[in-house]
Amino acid sequence: MSSQGPPPEEFELVLPPFAPGALEGLGDSAFDDVPLAEAIDVGDGGDDPAIAFRRTLGMFATGVTVLTTRIGDQVHGMTANAFMSVSLSPPLVLISIDRRARMIGMLHEGSRYGVSVLSQDQAVLSDFFARRAVEGVEPEFVVVHDTPLVDGALAHFVARIVRSYWGGDHSLFLGQVEYARYGEGEPLLFHGGRYERMSREPRLFSQLPQELLDQLLLRGHEVTFPAGEIVMTRGEVSDTLMLLTSGSVRVERPGRTMSLGAGNLVGEIEVLNPGPGRMATITAEEETTAIAVTRAELLEGLAADPRAAIALLEILAGRFRETG
Ligand SMILES: Cc1cc2nc3c(=O)[nH]c(=O)nc-3n(C[C@H](O)[C@H](O)[C@H](O)COP(=O)(O)O)c2cc1C
Repeated sequence: MSSQGPPPEEFELVLPPFAPGALEGLGDSAFDDVPLAEAIDVGDGGDDPAIAFRRTLGMFATGVTVLTTRIGDQVHGMTANAFMSVSLSPPLVLISIDRRARMIGMLHEGSRYGVSVLSQDQAVLSDFFARRAVEGVEPEFVVVHDTPLVDGALAHFVARIVRSYWGGDHSLFLGQVEYARYGEGEPLLFHGGRYERMSREPRLFSQLPQELLDQLLLRGHEVTFPAGEIVMTRGEVSDTLMLLTSGSVRVERPGRTMSLGAGNLVGEIEVLNPGPGRMATITAEEETTAIAVTRAELLEGLAADPRAAIALLEILAGRFRETG
């Protein structure tokens, strides 16, 4: 077990238990008369309807979780993407587990399960908990509300099972959320039967070789922002790239806030793709200076020396390879 504390800048919610009777009347499953297995129409999706059905389901992109529970000292975890939010008030989530999975025998009404939402660098943990052959993986757990959770995951829930339902070859477990927290980072995604990453890497020009970047920055001009002044506003259509040369700024994007100082670039994506507007609101934390390069100046620079343009294309191609 790890004794590591939670990551900084995290949100944590410890929910009070339900008021007595809050879930009364919820137990009558609409599946008391269960549907029979029937052939489904998969259009021109191929010869084997079962494969076509699986492939069709795979078009629904999800995150990846590790579901955990423990009985005494025995900790059990399994990878699952069949996790969904159900209700905010009362706070409810749902998981769907294959009836052949060993975990099935460990879950029942009143017991708890943990949900650890994996971050994009935790694909190996997903493989490990899906019993795929991976070497050298030793997952660590933190225990909250008597429930093991995968250490370092992007988000955690602990839920107490309030109802379970027949779900064909799976069983569904509706859980009352007792604990929820999230940290910083990007989630691991699952789509079309494989892992994917979110493509939200906001750095582009900062990956250029210094010599090529310097040539582009030479075309810019210096700007100064007093403490508290807004440098960029999220959503505003603007096409200036800035290299911070002194001071520091606070960068606020949904779910993420960070500080950047001298040497960092801001507005790297918008200078090439200004239409959708600024990705972040950026505020000077102290008096801050920057070199500002407009889109027009940048395009002149790229036209004068296409090596930087080619290097940018190579950086983008590398990103496709990462997710491909
Ligand atoms: C990305 C991914 C998602 C999965 N999602 C589920 C799921 O939602 N439900 C499920 O029962 N199995 C799911 N599995 C398969 C289980 O992780 C796998 O069968 C595991 O071995 C079950 O563990 P257990 O039998 O030890 O409990 C998934 C596997 C992967 C790789």
